[in-house]
Amino acid sequence: MHDDLEQRKSQHLDLVQRGEVEPDAADPLFGCVRLIHRALPELSLDDVDLSTELCGRALKAPLMVTGMTGGTERAGQINRDLAALAQETGVAFGVGSMRILLDQPELLPTFAVQSRPPLLFANLGAQQLVQRGTDAALNLIDLIKADGIAIHLNAAQELVQEGGDRDFRGQVDAISRLVPRANVIVKETGCGISPPVVAELWDAGVRAVDVSGQGGTSWPRVEQLRAKTPESRGLGALLSDWGIPTAACVVAARMTSPQMQIVASGVIRSGLDAAKAIALGADVAGFALPMVRAHQQGGVATARETLKGCIAALKAAFLLCGARNAVALRASRPVLLEPLRSWIEGLAE
Ligand SMILES: Cc1cc2nc3c(=O)[nH]c(=O)nc-3n(C[C@H](O)[C@H](O)[C@H](O)COP(=O)(O)O)c2cc1C
Repeated sequence: MHDDLEQRKSQHLDLVQRGEVEPDAADPLFGCVRLIHRALPELSLDDVDLSTELCGRALKAPLMVTGMTGGTERAGQINRDLAALAQETGVAFGVGSMRILLDQPELLPTFAVQSRPPLLFANLGAQQLVQRGTDAALNLIDLIKADGIAIHLNAAQELVQEGGDRDFRGQVDAISRLVPRANVIVKETGCGISPPVVAELWDAGVRAVDVSGQGGTSWPRVEQLRAKTPESRGLGALLSDWGIPTAACVVAARMTSPQMQIVASGVIRSGLDAAKAIALGADVAGFALPMVRAHQQGGVATARETLKGCIAALKAAFLLCGARNAVALRASRPVLLEPLRSWIEGLAE
């Protein structure tokens, strides 16, 4: 079974290099967000302050490289390189699902990173948390000396995956038992988190979510590409654009819970997308696919270019809106176009 898990993680790294993992029909709706240009910014670029705080840690820029991988030597290199870049630029970083470590502790070096990003997250699926319990999650945090753990929700992917989980009961309870004992961020993996779920998580004590909305890497699509049976292939094709667009998730989550810390991932592909997510109410923008693609295509140098390019564009967007910081960017009130407005209205009902 574990060889399977190792092989699956390895296949994932190859498959996400293919264009089809971002289905054309999926749209995060960032195109419906228009930041308002300010012809008289009355700011120097040096005045723009991107620094922020997430889960009690100071970040130099409101960005997170979200959890992706681990378990193989190739994955270990990705984790080490991307964590080093996160440290260099002062942004948050998460390793991928550590499920495999629960039974194969010898794979720890593929998750353990020497660098110290300002915020480092371990990662485990909510269903594994249900099955293995709070202590297992706490141990994963200790093993890599992380600042906390991201608990991921991925029901759509599991349903498409042959042999994947079919029972998703008990997750909120399991999360509520973990929250008093660790810094927890609950994240989707590309299908979005709706307002009632944000409210439920808040009531369970969760204070940070990554809405990881639809429009970016589609895990039903990745599993469709791996599937061996027509049933899985069919369900994967059908669900490949399933979910709530990222932009709609962010606005709706912010309206539901003014105090929840919100990471917006799911097709953040540039500093401009990140600026839009922050203008909509996110505290931090997260991205995964662009970083792993850059790393696999051109190593650390290309990944560094991607991350630094994103930070530079983010800063440019702040300046062009006349915004010295995130509070001012939000106050610059972006124009929202259809169909995003209808999504927000529908989610608020
Ligand atoms: C190669 C790859 C592997 C991933 N593995 C995990 C994982 O193990 N745990 C997790 O929480 N999310 C995982 N994700 C999801 C991302 O953290 C992120 O939520 C999602 O891909 C949306 O961001 P993106 O559109 O920038 O890729 C993975 C994403 C990619 C691209």
